[in-house]
Amino acid sequence: MKKIPVIIDCDPGHDDALALILAFASEKLEVKAVTVTGGNQTLAKTLRNAKRILSYIGKRPPLGAGVDKPMFRELETAPEVHGDSGLDGPSLPDTDYREEPIPAVDLMRKIILESPEPVTLIPTGPLTNVGILFTAYPEVKRNIARISLMGGSIAEGGNWSPAAEFNILVDPEAADIVYTSGVPITMSGLDVTHKAMILPAEIETLRKLGGKVPVLAAELLDFFSKYDRSLGFKGAPLHDPCAVACLIAPALFTTRDFHVAIETRGKYTSGMTLADLRFWTKEKPNVTANMDVNREGFIKLFMDACDSYP
Ligand code: RIB
Ligand code: CA
Repeated sequence: MKKIPVIIDCDPGHDDALALILAFASEKLEVKAVTVTGGNQTLAKTLRNAKRILSYIGKRPPLGAGVDKPMFRELETAPEVHGDSGLDGPSLPDTDYREEPIPAVDLMRKIILESPEPVTLIPTGPLTNVGILFTAYPEVKRNIARISLMGGSIAEGGNWSPAAEFNILVDPEAADIVYTSGVPITMSGLDVTHKAMILPAEIETLRKLGGKVPVLAAELLDFFSKYDRSLGFKGAPLHDPCAVACLIAPALFTTRDFHVAIETRGKYTSGMTLADLRFWTKEKPNVTANMDVNREGFIKLFMDACDSYP
């Protein structure tokens, strides 16, 4: 089975870390590089977190540091969710793993243009790096198969404002560039990620698997669950792992195509992913949205991935 070449662009962040664990465990993906953006925390912190997570799970792919702020706005972070370090909870050892000497967008361009197979991008944070990549190097689009992103929502509203999900809200202009790029998009928005919930008993099952990665995942989830549980959720939505899982096990997901536009100017709606829900619309779809997931199957996929590490 030919592996899908992917680049993961992330802002670790607890669920980004879980997405990396899932991706590197899969026989179906070849992770050509990991690039990092600001988002859950500042770029300095998300980059440090990426190095520590990857080192800890025994992976050292080419690593690219992105830019430290959105294309046209100031960075908004989420310490309420991910803590001051961006990865509060488990203490991860420092590492001598270093990023490449070239910026993330140049690393992405190099890998995409040199790949014999079209590359799939997996953004799990704000879309700043991808927005800059498409603006600076539009030629890369010819060798990108698809973007499988975590962000936005079709009919679930927002989580950082009533209208907008965090990743899109942080850099709406970058998201607009991506959603109008013509590159096929699979969108794991809140519609599916709120269903892709891991429950407290399942976190205990994960911890009991033992081994450094299952225990790390459980400890990440112990902290990550606090915010959503405080809002009244039954567990922790595994947002970013959805953008990976739908490539590995698409049969677990139910999808529907929509035309989605990004609001970049609204006083109350900036960052909204506005889906055209009119059955008579003439707008051509630009998004395949994951709308539902076989939750138990998804959790088993995730647990098996954690358990597969030495
Ligand atoms: O809204 C959830 C998204 O925002 C996830 O990617 C999480 O890591 C944060 O970046
Ligand atoms: Ca993220």
